[in-house]
Amino acid sequence: MLNDNQIGRRIALLRKERGYTQEQISFILNVTPQAVSKWEKGNALPDTSLLPLLAKTLGISIDRLLTGGSIMEKTSPYDGEYKKEEYYWGLQHSLLAERIVEIMQDDKANKRLLDIGSGEGRDAIYFAKCGFQVDALEISNPGVEKIRQYSQSSGYDVNVLHSDMIGYELKASYDVIYSHGSLQFLPLDQRKNHFEKYKRHTCVGGLNAHLIFVEKPFIKIAPDWEKDEFFYLSGDLARYYHDWEILRCDEQIIDCNSAGISHQHAVHSIIARKIEA
Ligand SMILES: C[S@@+](CC[C@H](N)C(=O)[O-])C[C@H]1O[C@@H](n2cnc3c(N)ncnc32)[C@H](O)[C@@H]1O
Repeated sequence: MLNDNQIGRRIALLRKERGYTQEQISFILNVTPQAVSKWEKGNALPDTSLLPLLAKTLGISIDRLLTGGSIMEKTSPYDGEYKKEEYYWGLQHSLLAERIVEIMQDDKANKRLLDIGSGEGRDAIYFAKCGFQVDALEISNPGVEKIRQYSQSSGYDVNVLHSDMIGYELKASYDVIYSHGSLQFLPLDQRKNHFEKYKRHTCVGGLNAHLIFVEKPFIKIAPDWEKDEFFYLSGDLARYYHDWEILRCDEQIIDCNSAGISHQHAVHSIIARKIEA
């Protein structure tokens, strides 16, 4: 049997996670904001004719919207690690994050930044601490919990978007779109679209910065490399940003001890600035 209260709570949760207001949802569905408010309070159910568009807007199947279960259909390979008390990636921010802060210098206050695949939030919180208004997009449920926990304990606010980056519709334009070690989860046939979307949703003068893993014949595949992770090739990032000003473009071999086994990665990073619309 359908439970109006639980469906309402799911609608409210997903709407907030996707960054919509009740007014925006009502506009998309051509209903009144009061109707959306009633659904969320469990006082009414959406008309069945609205379910396909509502479910699509909230990024969930109709079945899941109505019957619940895990809202996020996909999980992260890091879920197990993120459930542990210690921080798998540590609390020290990354070098790439530090470079962004240096480049933005005195121009960080109220700048909007999206961190894609934020993990447990080390960079997202660092950016917030430096004055950015941060959206942290992460698929892992325990990861999201860790970000919230870290945000609360540090006193720096981060807006957590619990979502799958694949197909995630950006609602805003950002001054910085950033990812650190997460875009290998984009399947090959989706990459071009995603990079185009990130570029489109960046304000003129804004930055995109990414660190990705590249395939090298002389580097063994990492022990915790997953079947849904796909390597890039050297130069891929420079090609995606060929029409932007490239501020930095590096490639290096780094040591890593994830999964408790020491190994190496070839990583390629870029910082690029959008010059014109
Ligand atoms: C290697 S970790 C990097 C975490 C973080 N950026 C850092 O440097 O500490 C990659 C992150 O991407 C997240 N991720 C994987 N697939 C994702 C997806 N489809 N949507 C959003 N996040 C995803 C994983 O859960 C993981 O937290």
